[in-house]
Amino acid sequence: MSKRTSSDANGISSAEPLYERMRALAKERVSKKRFKHMEGVAGTAERLARSYGADPYLARLAGILHDWDKDLDNDQIRVKVHEMGIQGEVGEWVVRNMPQVLHGPTAAAELERSFPDIPAEAISAIRKHTIASREMSDLDKIIYIADALEPGRRFDEVQELRSMMGEASLDELYYEVYRFWIQALVDKGCLLHPDTLAIWNDLAYPQAHERLLAYERRCKEKEHG
Ligand SMILES: [Fe+2]
Ligand SMILES: [Fe+2]
Repeated sequence: MSKRTSSDANGISSAEPLYERMRALAKERVSKKRFKHMEGVAGTAERLARSYGADPYLARLAGILHDWDKDLDNDQIRVKVHEMGIQGEVGEWVVRNMPQVLHGPTAAAELERSFPDIPAEAISAIRKHTIASREMSDLDKIIYIADALEPGRRFDEVQELRSMMGEASLDELYYEVYRFWIQALVDKGCLLHPDTLAIWNDLAYPQAHERLLAYERRCKEKEHG
């Protein structure tokens, strides 16, 4: 982790030099509206980190940087994928058909290369904030959730999901937010990323498996009763 100059009782300081430097660069890079969203995600992520025992500083840093590349248009994103050499990692089909999800991986690739002070945990959360992954750390989940629930988000279900923050477990909250996003994508007729099925099956498996066992038990009881 980067060096800190001063810290408050929670071990975090707004005077953190890396955070302040990156925040200033992000502010210059994106539109006012986008930056407001990034600040909203940083604040929400920090709050979630405090609730769920993750590092508030890393949560804030990943939050303020997560949409570093979101203002690039589709062609600029495609060029950047090739410049960063990550076309193999993200897949040509996705580059062609879902360029809007690539701002996470391109931002992570650039930030990792250009700012080696940024801790790997924050880079991972930035990379995974669009598509998620079958392997999500607590910080990855926190950024994914904060992106959906920051104060600027206005969709119908947002209040109910926000009310779970700090009440439900991190996994329950992540499950509900992920479920909400894929439902919203299908409702809009959007493509789903090829990894989405495997991610969803991992998340839904425990409950779905429980139901299957209960159903099979009932069938057997009927057979024998
Ligand atoms: Fe994003
Ligand atoms: Fe975002």
